[in-house]
Amino acid sequence: MALFGKDEAKKELGLLTPEDIRRLPRHVGIIMDGNGRWAVRRGMPRSFGHKAGVEALRAIIRRSSDLGIEALTIYAFSTENWSRSVEEVSALMGLLLEYFTKELDELHREHVCIRIIGDISGMPKGLERQQAALYAAMDRTRENTGLKLNIALNYGSQQEIVRAAQNLARRAAAGELAPEQITREMFAGELYTAGLPDVDFLIRTSGELRLSNFLLYQCAYAEFYKTDILWPDFDRNAYDEALLTYTKRERRFGGVK
Ligand code: FPP
Repeated sequence: MALFGKDEAKKELGLLTPEDIRRLPRHVGIIMDGNGRWAVRRGMPRSFGHKAGVEALRAIIRRSSDLGIEALTIYAFSTENWSRSVEEVSALMGLLLEYFTKELDELHREHVCIRIIGDISGMPKGLERQQAALYAAMDRTRENTGLKLNIALNYGSQQEIVRAAQNLARRAAAGELAPEQITREMFAGELYTAGLPDVDFLIRTSGELRLSNFLLYQCAYAEFYKTDILWPDFDRNAYDEALLTYTKRERRFGGVK
């Protein structure tokens, strides 16, 4: 799948020049929003939109991998999403199982390293097959050196931050470290994203302008990108366009020009 050094590399560049590719973000976060509206506009149940959303996701993972992006973190299911209807939650959990059953071989072949971020062990009863598939996917791809694909599931960023604080507080209480020794790096090391660079570029589809409890700590200096495109319609071209705008941003990290 690698893009470079191949004869067809030019064609695969899409909207991006080799110079753009050198300026791509290391870590992309995506809030995949708009599946429900996409389906409703077609007079279909919301689950139809989620199914189409998985197809869109497949293309974006492939493109990220082809472009040599280091990490991609996608918001698949939040801690608040359990409040959706039983039908919708069960459709999403069905898709999840299907995805990890059908796609794992391909992802592994492409050297993708899968990490589930979120509380897998805290998933409700009845989802044991999903849990087993998630652990199996992580185990199988752990040593892979390609795209680091982080899938946020039963994920909430505030919960993640509290969990990190609890871990460090426990160590402080045990006398292993003094509170003033705690650094930002140490704190980041207790998050689900430990070892990954902070998010450089955060994409949200469907026109909404919210963070929705996603990677609050890791997005401290992320560049935001909002598009009105609904997630199932967010294709490779739309992704390239988004990435292209990133390459033109001037990042200051709180400094001046
Ligand atoms: C937001 O759209 C999307 C979700 C809550 C689920 C995203 C999940 C997928 C794309 C597929 C499942 C993922 C995997 C890894 C198999 P929405 O339903 O909130 O849309 P709306 O705002 O139009 O209602």
